[in-house]
Amino acid sequence: MPNKIIIKKKILNFNKKISIPGDKSLSIRWVLISSLASGISKAKNLLMSEDVEASIKAVRKLGVKVLIKGGVCTIHGVGMKGYKYKKNLIINAQNSGTLGRLISGILIDTPFPIKIIGDKSLSKRDFQRVARPLSKFGASFRLTNNYNLPLTVKGSEKLKPIRFFENKGSAQCKSSIIFGGMKTNGKTVIKAKKSRDHTELLFKHLKLPIKIKKKKNLDIIEISKVNKIKPLNYKIPSDISSAAFFIALTVLSGESKIIIKNININPTRIGIIKILKKMGVKILFLNKKTYKGEPIADILVSSPQIIKSLNCPSEFNSGAIDEFLVIFLIAAKAKGVSHFKKLEELNKKESPRLIWGSKLLKMMGIKAIVTKDSIKIFGNPQLKIKKKIVISKYLKDHRVFMTSVIAALSFGGEWHVHDKDSIKTSFPSFLKIINTFKNEKKN
Ligand code: S3P
Repeated sequence: MPNKIIIKKKILNFNKKISIPGDKSLSIRWVLISSLASGISKAKNLLMSEDVEASIKAVRKLGVKVLIKGGVCTIHGVGMKGYKYKKNLIINAQNSGTLGRLISGILIDTPFPIKIIGDKSLSKRDFQRVARPLSKFGASFRLTNNYNLPLTVKGSEKLKPIRFFENKGSAQCKSSIIFGGMKTNGKTVIKAKKSRDHTELLFKHLKLPIKIKKKKNLDIIEISKVNKIKPLNYKIPSDISSAAFFIALTVLSGESKIIIKNININPTRIGIIKILKKMGVKILFLNKKTYKGEPIADILVSSPQIIKSLNCPSEFNSGAIDEFLVIFLIAAKAKGVSHFKKLEELNKKESPRLIWGSKLLKMMGIKAIVTKDSIKIFGNPQLKIKKKIVISKYLKDHRVFMTSVIAALSFGGEWHVHDKDSIKTSFPSFLKIINTFKNEKKN
């Protein structure tokens, strides 16, 4: 089977209700926290993607029993001190920055050196951002070129709490320090720029010793040593970052409507909703409820008559960080020029997405001016693509693949999008769901 997809037809107007898989951030956190709980935890709707499977493999390597049967994942937690640390252990985080960075914090008490490796894309990413603060706890970290994976961590018996200012708005860094803090006697204090707060909410729900003071642009988090975690049965809410592709398809497909069921609408994750509302898109949250500390709802989206351009407030950035590629596509059809700023973190993802976003737009015939941390997009509400577009050599970034598919289905042309397999990292059923939408007959 060729590892590419060819798309030659647009999607017809639709009115649909869909369900999508569990949230990736919550799935990985649930696996890691449950592995350290004292007792058995069970999860439904756990995202069965390569990033989560890598997390399961990682805890299995540390001696944790994990069973998956009939849509339920069961983790036999070994307790805070129960990991079986062995000599020469290698943990492969594959494509997952979340796993690689979060587990680095959990491993600061390993008596033997553990090596963390990753795939080609992860091996290009910054691990100094966690190794540097985590080494202040007293563990030692060795990085390749002082920056990249492979990383070797060797723990310490004499860990000491730290004070850390997380100034990138990275939930991965913040969470890895929270995990380090929970293994350390004393009070670790993190001053953190706003970012997704799933780790904090899970800790609160589990009544672990965490305190959070919310300031305007910062959170002050205090975390003390955790002795015992209660097992956690959890039905993982669905992923807004996966829903984003269908939200974009709806916005870009004439007169369409969609309901996407049971989505995690944590305020730190709904940057895309805030941005699209400013662009004139009608979005409603239906059946809102709180589940184990996380807000969830069905999302109703209708395609707008006109998409308005926007000068995007940068306080939306962190809450939309994984969604900017599809937001750029929507800006391509907006009336006027849209401007997105302070996006240097976007080039530090699975691929340099600010650069890839601008390349994609240019291939589509849209003028885009990109700097190292910003992009101006000159929208064209009449955009129709007639030519052939080939998307390849993009570090197999799942979100570049899925964004390209949405562009093809929304704007037409003949698209050859390589590395179909990349969707396995975050959204293996993406194409199966896409295939339930009707295509236009090619004329
Ligand atoms: C994630 C945090 C974000 C996000 C990633 C998942 C998490 O990364 O891009 O896909 O689960 O904590 P950063 O924390 O590096 O911004």
